[in-house]
Amino acid sequence: VTEPDLRGRHVVVSAGGTREPLDPVRFLGNRSSGKQGYALARTAAARGARVTLVSANAGLPEPAGVDVVPVGTAVQLREAVLKAASDADAVVMAAAVADFRPATYAAGKIKKKDGEDPEPIVLVRNPDILAEISADRARPGQVIVGFAAETDNVLANGRKKLDRKRCDLLVVNEVGERKTFGSEENEAVVLGADGSETPVPYGPKEALAETVWDLVARRLG
Ligand code: PMT
Repeated sequence: VTEPDLRGRHVVVSAGGTREPLDPVRFLGNRSSGKQGYALARTAAARGARVTLVSANAGLPEPAGVDVVPVGTAVQLREAVLKAASDADAVVMAAAVADFRPATYAAGKIKKKDGEDPEPIVLVRNPDILAEISADRARPGQVIVGFAAETDNVLANGRKKLDRKRCDLLVVNEVGERKTFGSEENEAVVLGADGSETPVPYGPKEALAETVWDLVARRLG
């Protein structure tokens, strides 16, 4: 039986991967399917929360009882997260957000020219949404959770990221064949700004989501 320990709370979850367009047919993107973020949204709703799910290119069925805000790019995701976070008790950033976007957008499809080398793609920095909402909390006591998908020095990189982005919790998941991007399962360690480490063994993405909400609920009191 699920405890309604998030009843009366508003939580915001970001899911999926942003796409940064180059021209009308091409984009820079990543392998996020949205499954981890959707599992977070479903489990929060089951625990009684009002849930806003900011969904970037996930293409998954809308979870029942969840307010879904579809977005495409990192800039759009920022707008939607800032708006929803203004009255939120917790924000969980499970989305894979592009750190950079193409400096220019070509209104027409970029053509290859015979015998010529391709033009280099110039990138500019996207806003860091997690760092921004953590530095400038919309409400006192708001709990902010980040995610980090790492390929090496997983825990050390995760700890550095948590310190840099100043969130309360950071879920570190190691990129692998049968976990993180695209799969039904995941495995992680949830790092706390208080120095805590909560390992979550390999299992369904819902199980990791439940642990995240346990830790959030404890911090909300
Ligand atoms: O969607 P799935 O297929 O289920 O896969 C789940 C997942 C692997 C995408 C998810 O578990 C995950 O790890 N998400 C974060 C991916 C990542 O590597 O994030 P990052 O290290 O680039 O960013 C760290 C944190 O800052 C994240 O919370 C991210 O949302 C946030 N961020 C990043 C860049 C940016 N410009 N703004 C941000 O807010």
